[in-house]
Amino acid sequence: MDFLLTEEHLAVREAARDFAQKELLPGVIERDSKMIHPTEQLKKMGELGFLGMMVDPKYGGGGMDAVSYVLAMEEISKVDNSCSVAMSVNNSLVCWGLETFGTEEQKQKYLTKLSTGEWIGAFCLSEPEAGSDATSQQTTAIDMGDHYILNGTKNWITNGGTSKVHLVIAQTDREKGHRGINAFIVETDWDGVNVGAKEDKLGIRSSDTHTIMYNDVKVPKANRIGEDGFGFKFAMKTLSGGRIGIASQALGIAGGAYELAAAYAGERKAFGKEIIKHQAIGFKLADMFMEIEAAKMLVYRAAWLKDQHMDYNAAGSMAKLYASEVAMRHTVEAVQIHGGYGFVKEYHVERLMRDAKITQIYEGTSEVQRIVLSRQVEKGNLYIPVTK
Ligand code: CAA
Repeated sequence: MDFLLTEEHLAVREAARDFAQKELLPGVIERDSKMIHPTEQLKKMGELGFLGMMVDPKYGGGGMDAVSYVLAMEEISKVDNSCSVAMSVNNSLVCWGLETFGTEEQKQKYLTKLSTGEWIGAFCLSEPEAGSDATSQQTTAIDMGDHYILNGTKNWITNGGTSKVHLVIAQTDREKGHRGINAFIVETDWDGVNVGAKEDKLGIRSSDTHTIMYNDVKVPKANRIGEDGFGFKFAMKTLSGGRIGIASQALGIAGGAYELAAAYAGERKAFGKEIIKHQAIGFKLADMFMEIEAAKMLVYRAAWLKDQHMDYNAAGSMAKLYASEVAMRHTVEAVQIHGGYGFVKEYHVERLMRDAKITQIYEGTSEVQRIVLSRQVEKGNLYIPVTK
């Protein structure tokens, strides 16, 4: 068993950390409070290869492994989660979904632009009445022979206002249940694609989250992903990897809050000594460190399983569930360690606390992750094999 990161992993982590500190930290408070989309920052991230990290270089990507991707996500998430959520959706849902299940023509047409960040993608599954219960799709895609007609509304769409491409999940044949669902590549400048107002959110406030309305959108058959009826499985398989991305975001949020709290506690004095020397604070930091390390093991292991082409479905759910709970719990503690300073925007921890909450909600709530895990338990797959 080897817990050491390679030279390449360390270099990726260093590059992401450097980028986050130099390019994302300045202005992050203002972008968050005024909900300013990080357009320039995402452009630079595309140029540096952060938006298509795992894509084969022949389609313009970085050809890196999933461990490199989670290391970069972690560092960027310590600073700006509006950027890291866009990065996560583009990398692990949109690019991975297209590269794994798309046709060569779809990859040439779309993936080459998405992997370089020239275009940003969105993943459109959630609906007003189909959040956790993702099989209850009300959006319809009626088969018209050489094309489909798409109608419906999607909610909470990350990159909703800035994306050029949507991967849309819709019901083609209701009688077939989840086997009647399809996934489509939809270009956002096609007639009938309408973007609602930007959501005013608790956290990740500068990321552009929108409702999208599809009204009689004509989608060529060549834009369906996979065989007829593959759409629900496409969504589930894609989300299994997406959850590793969000797990690494949660890990970064927890790690960022810990770094800030530990630094503050080492400087701030009360009752004649640095507050880190008071057990009440030192013990809190010790617990933070330990639980972040435990989350890290789950997140890196899920990414490693993906790199080994082994089953990472339960591992990704565990990583997301645990890391998001650690992020929530310890960002609250980081605010507490900062006292009154933690309650104001200047010290960053209140933003990380607000950002932590969404990691327990999107790409499957904590309850959904427990459904995924309890079904594995039911099937007797409690232990994930670690040999090939
Ligand atoms: N891989 C492959 N197949 C899978 C799968 C997976 N990970 N998970 C389920 N399936 C298959 C099942 O095997 C089953 O197929 P068969 O009938 O052929 O055996 C089929 O899919 C249906 O599965 P279930 O019966 O388990 O489906 P369910 O209705 O009970 O739902 C669920 C299961 C896990 C709750 C699922 O609905 C789910 O994941 N819901 C949450 C959706 C979600 O994560 N939404 C996030 C939106 S995207 C987002 O947030 C992006 C963003 O913008 C940040």
